[in-house]
Amino acid sequence: MRVLVIGNGAREDALSWRLAASPSCEAVFAAPGNAGTAMRGVNWDVSATDGRALAQRCIDERIDLAVIGPETAIAAGVGDRLREAGVATFGPDRSCGRLESSKIFAKRFMERHGVPTARASVVHSLDGAFRALEHHGERVAIKADGLAAGKGVVVVDDRDEAKATLARWYGAGHIPGGGSDVLIEERLEGREVSVFAICDGERFLPFGSACDYKRAGDGDTGPNTGGMGAYSPPQGFPEDLEAIVWERIVEPVRRGLLAEGERYVGVLYCGLMWTSDGPYVIEFNARLGDPEAQVLLPRVEGDVAALLHSAATGSLRESIAFSSDACVGVVLATAGYPGSSTSLRGLPKHVEIGSECRIFWGNSVIGDAGIDATGGRVMTVTATGSDILAARENAYSGVRTLASQLGSRDLTYRTDIAVG
Ligand code: AMP
Ligand code: GLY
Repeated sequence: MRVLVIGNGAREDALSWRLAASPSCEAVFAAPGNAGTAMRGVNWDVSATDGRALAQRCIDERIDLAVIGPETAIAAGVGDRLREAGVATFGPDRSCGRLESSKIFAKRFMERHGVPTARASVVHSLDGAFRALEHHGERVAIKADGLAAGKGVVVVDDRDEAKATLARWYGAGHIPGGGSDVLIEERLEGREVSVFAICDGERFLPFGSACDYKRAGDGDTGPNTGGMGAYSPPQGFPEDLEAIVWERIVEPVRRGLLAEGERYVGVLYCGLMWTSDGPYVIEFNARLGDPEAQVLLPRVEGDVAALLHSAATGSLRESIAFSSDACVGVVLATAGYPGSSTSLRGLPKHVEIGSECRIFWGNSVIGDAGIDATGGRVMTVTATGSDILAARENAYSGVRTLASQLGSRDLTYRTDIAVG
């Protein structure tokens, strides 16, 4: 198969790596890709959200399977355009993608189908929001309806903070992600964990679970980011975590989608809070996470290209085997991330960092003197090991080797991924 990966993050580099290593994959392409995907295959200079251009190029290049990475592409209808053009596509159409692209759609869907989630009010104005606050406790989460690249959720401790956030959003006339719709929901207490399913329209199969680290700084301090690290499998949850989530969440979602005439193809990412009452959905994503993909894909066994093709063509069959190894991924970002972003030029293309480690490149291009990092999350260093402790030691040993080889380069990372 000739396989296209759509997107340009470290998630897409990890996908390209795993697809290129699949027996059924002949060649791998990326649009627009990054320095990592350029070293594994061929990058196309086509935007990840330009569905028509992607569809035409897939036909010209005889692509057998397209795999969509980012939510922006799903929300732009890239899946719809590719399928219209007859391209087998792994990634949902825009309608199913609303589970991620509209938090209000997702909340209503969960309410219709009995999926455990926090009680919420939908508001459209500052007045309405202030009235709705009266019906909630002091501690709430305030969520912009649309896609906002991690900036659309504010979790508050009291009413004043809630009012200040809402006044800022409505006052400036700028709700993150655009629009005027906001969700106010009860704050859930517990530990966060993400559970993944791979879906072919009718069948859903377990695709592992992971924990990620969203805050920029050690000890979960600092601003929210796209994700600074992850590990899999999760630690400190019930042994039968995935089975519980399957029964209480994934199955009702699957039945609900079918009942509403939706064929969900791709990855369903359930972002959960494990409360004293079990798992509650915080959010759905309609794709693999970044950096969760970087710690899940090294654990998946078998021919991943064939697996994703079977999902894309409605013929998922056997269960998916995961290695018993653990995997830890540490994200290296340019200093200042997620605020001001600097860029770095001339990073080495190859660095020896140990056989258990892999580097997945994020925002980067191949320049004249090596790799130029274009700011933000530059790479994920991922390592496997017999357990989380071993995987973590391998990952941080790789990060230290890398840091010393890059000299005094302006890169920052968390030192507590998968600790405790
Ligand atoms: P989201 O973008 O929906 O994943 O939200 C970002 C982060 O906000 C989540 O990872 C949680 O840490 C937090 N969050 C969202 N909703 C809630 C909630 N109802 N209760 C507590 N924390 C929440
Ligand atoms: N790491 C969280 C996400 O990809 O949304």
